[in-house]
Amino acid sequence: MKIAFFDAKEYDKSSFDRINNGRYDITYFDVLLNKDTVVLAKGFDAVCAFVNDKIDKDVLDKLNEYNIHVLALRCAGYNNVDVKAAYKKVHILTVPGYAPEAIAEHAFALINSLTRHIHKAYNRVRDFNFSLNGLTGFNLSGKTIGVIGTGKIGKVMINIANGYGMKVLAYDLFPNHNLNCTYVSLDELYKESDIITLHAPLTSDNYHLINSDAISKMKDGVMIINTSRGGLIDSHALFDGLKSKKIGAAGLDVYEEESDVFFIDKSLEGINDDILSLLISMPNVIVTSHQAYLTTEALEEIAKVTIDNLDKGLNDDYSPNEVCYMCKNKNDLNACLKARKKSCW
Ligand code: NAI
Repeated sequence: MKIAFFDAKEYDKSSFDRINNGRYDITYFDVLLNKDTVVLAKGFDAVCAFVNDKIDKDVLDKLNEYNIHVLALRCAGYNNVDVKAAYKKVHILTVPGYAPEAIAEHAFALINSLTRHIHKAYNRVRDFNFSLNGLTGFNLSGKTIGVIGTGKIGKVMINIANGYGMKVLAYDLFPNHNLNCTYVSLDELYKESDIITLHAPLTSDNYHLINSDAISKMKDGVMIINTSRGGLIDSHALFDGLKSKKIGAAGLDVYEEESDVFFIDKSLEGINDDILSLLISMPNVIVTSHQAYLTTEALEEIAKVTIDNLDKGLNDDYSPNEVCYMCKNKNDLNACLKARKKSCW
């Protein structure tokens, strides 16, 4: 069976080659999957894609035309797939929870760097500048963190925050009352939190959840951390909030216009995105290039689950990792086919 693997990087190749061990004939393409590149998939049995591949109706129709009915995403989120257009054409499989610790620990790395100005101290000391002026931080212990989205990653965030002795507020559409946190309304979370961290998936309902209205309800000097999806934050509103000092700091592992920039070495040509350039130039902002997931453990788990998803998808077997546009109704047995028939279609 032949797999067309898009947006392939060296670290993907090494983890997939190790786990695949010759099982599938994988061809690695450096390019993103989109309507211009989908032709590369012709003649393959399945496609493997990642977060910034644009899997819209045009791409899905082409895959269907090429008789490709399995698309294995090697990531958790599937906001980049037109799941409605995929229905009854291409089975979409994801890797829902490969290493929530990796993402939560990265989110906390951003929090720790920003609270203690580690990024500034690192540069200073390299210049033999040992002055501490301007590096005064604040203790996390006793501060309030607001966690939006308390699924697999949010849960680890809550545990780590409790370890720091923080007060943990949370908001989720489906609260999990077994967690050591206090669920509040979004407005209350905005009002009370010193740090707000996003761990909800990007959906059509929460696009630009953090906009100027939400920011106006937050504490002065709030820190915002986003390791989830860029589209959750209106970047212009974030920039305005930072400029006016309403927002004290931001740690961003994702950015709404990241697809042309992140994962790519742009050091020679530069970037054309003014807002991203301005954000990167701010001393109280740390941007990482969607690397929260990038640990050895996570890469191995992603490769394992993706190969298993391909096995299931290509053999028409049940996979709990299949998603479709009806999946949000998965508790409604009448609405969700997978709940009854073990397959989305
Ligand atoms: P999960 O599905 O376990 O948890 C998501 C939680 O968000 C659920 O409890 C859900 O009820 C809640 N939720 C959904 N819509 C919401 C809304 N509008 N407001 C508040 N809560 C809402 O997902 P998991 O594994 O915790 O991942 C969360 C997100 O993290 C993923 O969707 C993905 O976008 C992002 N992610 C980022 C990575 C990175 O490298 N930066 C790597 C992996 C995931």
